[in-house]
Amino acid sequence: MKAKNCLIFGGSGQIGRNLIRKLTSNSYKVTVVTRNIHQKSYIIKTQANAGYIDIIESNIFEEKKLRDAFKQADICINLIGILYEQKKGNTFKNVHKVFPSLLAKLSKEYALKHFIHLSALGINEADDSNYAKSKLDGENEILKNFPLATILRPSVVYSVDDNFTTNFMTLLNRLPVFPLYYQGNTKFTPIHCSDLTDTIYHVISNNIYSKIIECVGPETITLKNILIKLMSHLGKKRILFPMPLVLAKISASLFEIMPKPLLTTDQLRLLKYDNVPSGKYKTNFDIGVPSLKSFDEEVKKYCFMWKEGGQFSTEKYLLNKNLNKN
Ligand SMILES: NC(=O)c1ccc[n+]([C@@H]2O[C@H](COP(=O)([O-])OP(=O)(O)OC[C@H]3O[C@@H](n4cnc5c(N)ncnc54)[C@H](OP(=O)(O)O)[C@@H]3O)[C@@H](O)[C@H]2O)c1
Repeated sequence: MKAKNCLIFGGSGQIGRNLIRKLTSNSYKVTVVTRNIHQKSYIIKTQANAGYIDIIESNIFEEKKLRDAFKQADICINLIGILYEQKKGNTFKNVHKVFPSLLAKLSKEYALKHFIHLSALGINEADDSNYAKSKLDGENEILKNFPLATILRPSVVYSVDDNFTTNFMTLLNRLPVFPLYYQGNTKFTPIHCSDLTDTIYHVISNNIYSKIIECVGPETITLKNILIKLMSHLGKKRILFPMPLVLAKISASLFEIMPKPLLTTDQLRLLKYDNVPSGKYKTNFDIGVPSLKSFDEEVKKYCFMWKEGGQFSTEKYLLNKNLNKN
């Protein structure tokens, strides 16, 4: 079988790294486009055997370089997304709408076999969030320019190297009181990163052209319950404080001034909406990739590094009397 060439944008991120491993171990060749080869090549190159991976440094709107990359590609995968806007062009519109639209046009022009785009779950409902609106605009542009594209809408994605459970565990370690927005009642359907990349792989290897697929895990868990589970894994007791909306808005607008805000006012609006399957689209379960990984079981495997004692807090070490003498 001739190896298929996958052109990946955003391959240095959480989902990208996992996906590179999945694709290259199944004999796909990948070319990853990054903005900064000096900073990211180590983390990208170490995900695959030499011969299966290439890296190109490019600004996402450097069309000449992108065109050269498309000439070699069979499949394009877009994993670029931002959670908050920054100055000088790093806007939701540019990253979530204009750029995916360009990729879709190039996929058509260079007759690619497939274009896979990562969007987000719940964006139809969250119509007062600029993040959600831009993701939705991007989807519409893609389907207009390359109708064969497959759009995946994941719920929150977790793994040892995520920005979700690991950030919460860091904060739960440091803060005696933890704010609960909307009483912590917002529902999520967290999917493990490897279950999501299995879904992407399934879409690619089985040529699924399904327009929109919602990607979810097996459990629906409220934000409050997620925090309770994480606290129990860490062995910490923290006060969960239901923050009044006015205070939440004030704190979010203060956080927004920081270079890497913990929460923005746009994210606060987004948090109002449950992040669960809409019932209007197929899910990963429907296309034959049921996500079976349990949130608790998976987090248990890596939470120890956020726990007091680190590796020495695990059962393996606690049972070893020689190590526990002092
Ligand atoms: N992780 C989740 O929980 C989750 C949930 C729902 C949807 N999604 C979507 O899934 C996709 C992948 O998520 P992820 O968590 O793997 O993403 P990520 O780690 O946050 O970012 C992926 C990559 O995008 C590139 N990037 C970031 N900001 C950029 C900018 N301003 N301009 C150009 N490139 C930029 C970076 O690559 P370089 O630095 O190498 O250029 C980064 O490594 C995104 O579209 C995201 O919205 C993720």
